[in-house]
Amino acid sequence: MRILTGIQPSGKLHWGNYFGAMQPSIGMQEKGEAFIFIAQYHALTTVHDAEALRQATFDVAADFLACGLDPTKACLFRQADVPEVHELAWLLSTVTPMGLLERCHSYKDKLARGIAASHGLFAYPVLMAADILAYQSDVVPVGRDQKQHVEVTRDVAAKFNQAYGVEVFKLPEPMISESVAVIPGLDGQKMSKSYNNTIGLFDPPKEVKGKIMKIATDSTPLEDPKDPDACRVFALYKLFADEAELEEMRANYLRGGYGYGHAKKALFEIYQRKFGPFRERREYLVAHPEEVEAVLQAGAEKARAQARITLNAARRAVGLD
Ligand code: ADP
Ligand code: TRP
Repeated sequence: MRILTGIQPSGKLHWGNYFGAMQPSIGMQEKGEAFIFIAQYHALTTVHDAEALRQATFDVAADFLACGLDPTKACLFRQADVPEVHELAWLLSTVTPMGLLERCHSYKDKLARGIAASHGLFAYPVLMAADILAYQSDVVPVGRDQKQHVEVTRDVAAKFNQAYGVEVFKLPEPMISESVAVIPGLDGQKMSKSYNNTIGLFDPPKEVKGKIMKIATDSTPLEDPKDPDACRVFALYKLFADEAELEEMRANYLRGGYGYGHAKKALFEIYQRKFGPFRERREYLVAHPEEVEAVLQAGAEKARAQARITLNAARRAVGLD
């Protein structure tokens, strides 16, 4: 089974991104043949700053490698290293009905947020379809907001196959992980960079500690029992803890005599225990960018070979061979 997902390089990742998207993506490497790419061309629909894009591209790669992506198991690459997807996107765009794109929520949401309506923004789902179809992907794990784009991909692939009477493309299935809960931010709303309530994955430990210490809690006195399920600190602790650790923390809350200050300290410690090794690995990669580059180039070579096969088949189907 081939599993593919793309991640836009859009700045520093936070805990919500890690638990909501990155950890499940890295988990794919154990479930099948995983392709994970950095969607630079998609980012260009909203980012127009060359240095920011360069830096964010490196950061995504380093973050993934630091957090456990194993390049011997998963293929990690940059979208821009596979120019074949553009030719494929054009071939697909010629069979994509305007109405299909006009119905896309993501496009409409972006306009509503004030992003200028460019052709790239409108054609975004066609490029995404090319990404998915180029690698003959079976399954595409995405957030709920991207599900419609995978459905568009299926429609476009079916249209192409039908128009030319050849099964050039495999129809992919979206995989929406309903079990991944929305990770709460410091203020209890969804953690999001738009709400300024995030804890960065690799923020300096002092900063992380400061943010944790400032999480608002209720005024139950230290000696009283507390409701773990109503507490933001507990909700974050849950992300890191194994079952035994979670039960112990729950018991601490329910017993009383355990203050929110203690819980915050425990949250910081468990974060350090889990992310300390990731942080060290990331520092190593930042000091050895050539190793990151080597992984990306090897990934691109593998991805490109597959994209070439698909593109050749599509060219043949339309009469460009
Ligand atoms: P942000 O809301 O900070 O702008 P993005 O929209 O760039 O984050 O999200 C990138 C990925 O991280 C998406 O797959 C999204 O589903 C996931 N993600 C972001 N925030 C959360 C959260 N609070 N809980 C769970 N997943 C999240
Ligand atoms: N549009 C996706 C997002 O914003 C990123 C992406 C681009 C993608 N191409 C893809 C995801 C192909 C899955 C498959 O999150």
